[in-house]
Parts: sequence; structure tokens; C-alpha cells
Amino acid sequence: MRKIICGLALFSIFSIGAFAQDKEGGRHVGGGRIPSLGPAPDKAHTPAQAPGAAEPAKSFADRPGHPEAPHVHSNDKWIGHDSGPNDPNYHLDQPWRNGHFTGGFGKGHLFPLDGGGPDRFWFNSFYFSVAPGDYGYCNDWFWNSDQIAIYEDPDHVGWYLAYNVRLGTYVHVMYQGLANAQLTLPEAPARKTFETVCGACHDLRTGPRRTKAAWVAVVDSMAGRGARATDQEFAAIAEYLTKYFGAVDVNQGAAKEIADVLEIPAQDADAIVRFRTDNGEFKDLDGLKKVPGVDANAIEERSTRIVFK
Ligand code: HEC
Repeated sequence: MRKIICGLALFSIFSIGAFAQDKEGGRHVGGGRIPSLGPAPDKAHTPAQAPGAAEPAKSFADRPGHPEAPHVHSNDKWIGHDSGPNDPNYHLDQPWRNGHFTGGFGKGHLFPLDGGGPDRFWFNSFYFSVAPGDYGYCNDWFWNSDQIAIYEDPDHVGWYLAYNVRLGTYVHVMYQGLANAQLTLPEAPARKTFETVCGACHDLRTGPRRTKAAWVAVVDSMAGRGARATDQEFAAIAEYLTKYFGAVDVNQGAAKEIADVLEIPAQDADAIVRFRTDNGEFKDLDGLKKVPGVDANAIEERSTRIVFK
């Protein structure tokens, strides 16, 4: 309770300060302000440093009293979003592996945080995680009360920007999927086994989508951690997860697996395998969509079920 009162008191002091500062050029940070737009894409990208060169110490506190973290000025200028698209901190081998966030972006969509921490936080049943390199920029976030808004990151594929309305700071976040409250488990004989065996230690986890081999590996690793079931039950669980929450490697998977996971006709899956045998591995979704006879829309729609290894 004391924390809340303290927070409120601080909030009002900040707001008064904010009005005073606005007259001096609109450079106040946080205190309830919400940017109308996300950052512009980084055009003037500084090239990567020569190996061995010392990293310059990054400072974000561009003005007295501004936070030592990426933040947004009251004139909507995003400070600290200038490392460019090649920043290794935000490189992902599999961007959007949990799909895209669908809860709404920007100023018109404020979300009160509902719990968690940098490695996993949530609001309105949406789960997110902060980029590990950004953990240091959200030490002062209240994970169960702050309001945030989500913006698209124009530079880093697979990331969003979460803006903290109270503090005016932001971090890179990755969408982790929907919470269990909204998770509808398809009915199948193995569903009950999955719920009983896998719900014993933590919330039922069905994401991110994984290949059959990867689900089998998860189930094995859970057995190693103490999950209790017969071999048959473990196999049925892996099968269930692959069927409904599976992904397929279109460069390795057999035609049947491709057809099952992507829910496409067998002859389309055959065409994919034939094309791959004749022309070499697929590099990306566009390559896959070019396979003659394959429904490009169906491929696009199921892109989160496809991996390229
Ligand atoms: C004996 C306790 C226990 C049971 C039962 C259990 N798990 Fe886990 N699980 C853990 C622990 C511990 C972790 C690692 C810490 C964490 O992520 O919470 C974990 C992590 C996970 C992860 C994240 C791993 C990753 O690499 O991202 C998944 C997915 C998962 N479990 C799925 C399952 C499935 C599927 C089952 C049922 C076969 C299951 N768990 C049963 C204890 C258990």
C-alpha cells in the first residue's frame, strides 16, 4: 500500500514538473504521456565496429533528469532506437516463432501489466518476454500495475517495443503467445493424459510450435525432470502436441508429416518434397510459395508452423 501511495505522490510531482517543462520545449519523459507513433526506421545506420574495438559506454540520459534507459520524449522522439537492423542483441534465428501479437498497437491500446517479470510477463492473457540485453532498462517497472503500450519495431524483425506510460521508458519485447485461460486444447484421447501428466508442475505449455523431434525432446527432458508417465503415455503426449501445436521442417520432413502439420492435400506435400529434391533446400517462405501447384495462401496462413533448417 505504501508503495502505491508513494507512486501516486511521485506521479503528481512529476506531472506538475511536466507542465512546467512543456513550456520549455516539450522534453519531459513519462508521467502518463503516450507516443502517437513508434520510432522511425533507422536510416543513418552506423556500421558495425571493427572487431576488438572497445564498445563505447552507452548513455541514454540525454538531458538532466532523463532516465538511463531508452525512452521517449514528449515530442514523440524515441531516444536509443538507433542501433540499426544489424544489432546482434535483437538477432533472432526464428523471428515470430510464436506468431504475431493481435491485441492492438500504439496510443489507443493501453494495457495494465498483470504480473511476471522481464523473462515472462503478461496482460490480457498475452504473454511476452523482454530481450535479455534490455533487462537492465526495466528494473524499475511495476510488473503488476504499470500501464504499457505496444509499438512495432521498424528495425528489428521479431521484436515489439513495450512503452511504460509511467516512466516513459521502453524495452524490446517478444510475443510469447496466449495464456492458458484462452488456450483451447483440442479434444483427443491424449488430451487428458497431457493435462494430467504435464500440468503437475507448471501451466500447460503448448508454445512455441515445435517439430515432432523437438516435442519428443521436450517430453524426454520433462521425464528427466521428474514427469511421471509410461513410455506409451509420453509418446502419446508428443504425438498430440505435434498434431495440434506442431511445426514441420520443410527441408527435412517427409511428405506425410508436411501434409499433417500444414493441413494441406497429400499431393501438395508431395510437390514440395519433389521440388526440394530437384532444386535444393528452401530458404524462406517465398521460395516455398513458388512450388507449382501449392496454395500460396495456405502456406502464408500457416507460416508459424513452418521451419527451415
Ligand atoms: C516434474 C515437474 C514437471 C513436469 C511433470 C513437467 N515439466 Fe515441463 N518443466 C519443468 C521444469 C522444472 C522446467 C524448466 C523451468 C521452467 O521453464 O519453468 C520445465 C519447462 C518446460 C518447457 C519449457 C522448456 C523450453 O525449452 O522452453 C516446456 C515446453 C515444458 N516444460 C513442457 C512440458 C510438457 C509437455 C510436460 C508433459 C510431458 C511437462 N513439461 C511436464 C518441470 C516439469
